[in-house]
Amino acid sequence: MLSALQIEGGYPLLGQVRVSGAKNAGLVLMAASILAEGEVILDNLPRIRDVEIMDKILNDIGVTTHWRPDGSLSICPPNSSLKTKTSYELAKMLRASNLFLGAMLGRQKEAIISLPGGCDIGSRPMDLHIKGVQALGSEIQIEHGYIYANAKNPTGASVYLDFPSVGATENIIMMAAKAKGTTIIENSAKEPEIVDLANFLNSMGARIRGAGTDVIKIEGVDELIGGRYSIIPDRIEAGTFMIAAAITKGEILIENVIPTHLHPVIAKLQETGALVENTDSGLIVKAGQAINPIDIKTLPYPGFPTDMQSQMMALLCLAEGPSVIVENVFENRFQIVDELKRMGAKIKVEGHTAVVEGVDYLHGTTVKATDLRAGAALILAALAAEGETKIEDAIHIFRGYENVREKLTNLGAKVS
Ligand code: UD1
Repeated sequence: MLSALQIEGGYPLLGQVRVSGAKNAGLVLMAASILAEGEVILDNLPRIRDVEIMDKILNDIGVTTHWRPDGSLSICPPNSSLKTKTSYELAKMLRASNLFLGAMLGRQKEAIISLPGGCDIGSRPMDLHIKGVQALGSEIQIEHGYIYANAKNPTGASVYLDFPSVGATENIIMMAAKAKGTTIIENSAKEPEIVDLANFLNSMGARIRGAGTDVIKIEGVDELIGGRYSIIPDRIEAGTFMIAAAITKGEILIENVIPTHLHPVIAKLQETGALVENTDSGLIVKAGQAINPIDIKTLPYPGFPTDMQSQMMALLCLAEGPSVIVENVFENRFQIVDELKRMGAKIKVEGHTAVVEGVDYLHGTTVKATDLRAGAALILAALAAEGETKIEDAIHIFRGYENVREKLTNLGAKVS
């Protein structure tokens, strides 16, 4: 497995790129597949490291899976019970392993979930997930790094989320899909990945309404029947390539995108001066004459996504003036700042706010990917920088970006 990327900067990215399936939708659909009777086939699932780990977790708990020749993943939950406990060794590698809480409670009323790992982007508590599954009848104990959950009689209930957590909304939906009666989630997350989960479960016989709004209503059913489903395109990968066009003074046609999922990113990119055109073949993004400084606040969907904040910071490092970025979702997202500074960026951080002074150029050096999106941002900075950049710990990038080296090379980047 590659552990570093070497990039020679200064080449405009030109051409077209096809966006892969959404990591965050793929991961939750893989967990939700255990709710089905019979085989589930997932199309458009990206072959990335996080998906491979999720696949291993499925195998470890007793689910048979295999990649089919057409690139889809077949998931066959057995008729018998699954192992209830997720392995610490696997769960520590992947935050989304926590999605087995709702999926297992929905399937077999019991779950022992290792407290998850994943990106080091801030404290990632599970209080809202627990509050949700408790409301639906689970007894919870947290001991020795595991959540022990038991629901003798899962029953629908009303749950108000203090914050529209993506993972908590997903866990509650999965448990509620097969609970007795009706569940109402208020202040639910509205991300496109939540809609994809609801569409997937509904395609198997679930009764979920309101996904994509802040009130979701789920009427539990006795049985969900497996089937075939195609995952939505990855809006964060699309956004990353959009910024690649803008930062390298290039022009890229981005295929396989749903533009409505990218509204906040498109709007902010246009404010920086980039040109974005929605065509039948995809989004064409062309760099503007200059990069205008802008202000950004990350918020739950449909606000500006926290998963695009680092990449936008890379772009604003080269803007003609100061920009202000406020991170409202994850407190450690500014770990990237020290790495960008090594490349010549001028950034000051105070609490949740970063002030990015524009500089005329960035220069190549050795930097470290501290998390997945920081890694993506370093690729962008390196593509625009003078000279060569070595990005260490690039394994973080491979967690979430499929064939990133090939895709960049096809656009004219010099990456090894
Ligand atoms: C998901 C995404 C991640 C994205 C994030 C926000 C997956 C696999 N990951 O992560 O890429 O950055 O949504 O869009 O889909 N919180 C609590 N208590 C909880 C749960 C969350 O306080 O019980 C807080 C978190 O600390 C964080 C905020 O809520 O500050 C958002 O977290 P959440 O929406 O749950 O993100 P994830 O589902 O972990």
